[in-house]
Amino acid sequence: MDRTFVMVKPDGVQRGLVGEIVSRFEAKGLKLVGAKLELLPEERVVEQYREHLEKPFFPGLKAYIMSGPCFLMAWEGKGVAAVVRRMVGATNPAEAEPGSIRGDFALDIGRNVIHASDSPESAARELGIHFAPGELVDYSRIDEPVLYE
Ligand code: GTP
Ligand code: MG
Repeated sequence: MDRTFVMVKPDGVQRGLVGEIVSRFEAKGLKLVGAKLELLPEERVVEQYREHLEKPFFPGLKAYIMSGPCFLMAWEGKGVAAVVRRMVGATNPAEAEPGSIRGDFALDIGRNVIHASDSPESAARELGIHFAPGELVDYSRIDEPVLYE
């Protein structure tokens, strides 16, 4: 089954939004297959955001992500990377749809609460950066037989 990487950023952790965010993905029918609270080392922040290394906002982005613990998750489900990106909403919370996480809980592009991998390829790469294979677990949700046709 498809998996993706999702991370509540330090502002989301400090604002007590972890439970609300986990609840939304659980209610959607996605399965949590890995999770940990962690202060990220610089190498993993650089690796995760390597496409943005040369952008003017990168130093601020790196400082923001390292300013406190992040809540890292692996979620599983059909088409999960695209599903989660829609639930997360646009990068700039001012443009994110109400009902999305950024649309409901954030205002500033530099404090947008959550990260989610932007494709299945990014998901595989980012899960590899942040989780050892043994940290991701296999189990069944009790409602799987009625969640999928
Ligand atoms: P992530 O899920 O965090 O990767 O966000 P995204 O995929 O919606 O956006 P993108 O990968 O383009 O940018 C990564 C992160 O950099 C964003 O979530 C923002 O936190 C930050 N960022 C992107 N563009 C800007 C910008 O113009 N200004 C500032 N301050 N931060 C930005
Ligand atoms: Mg991105």
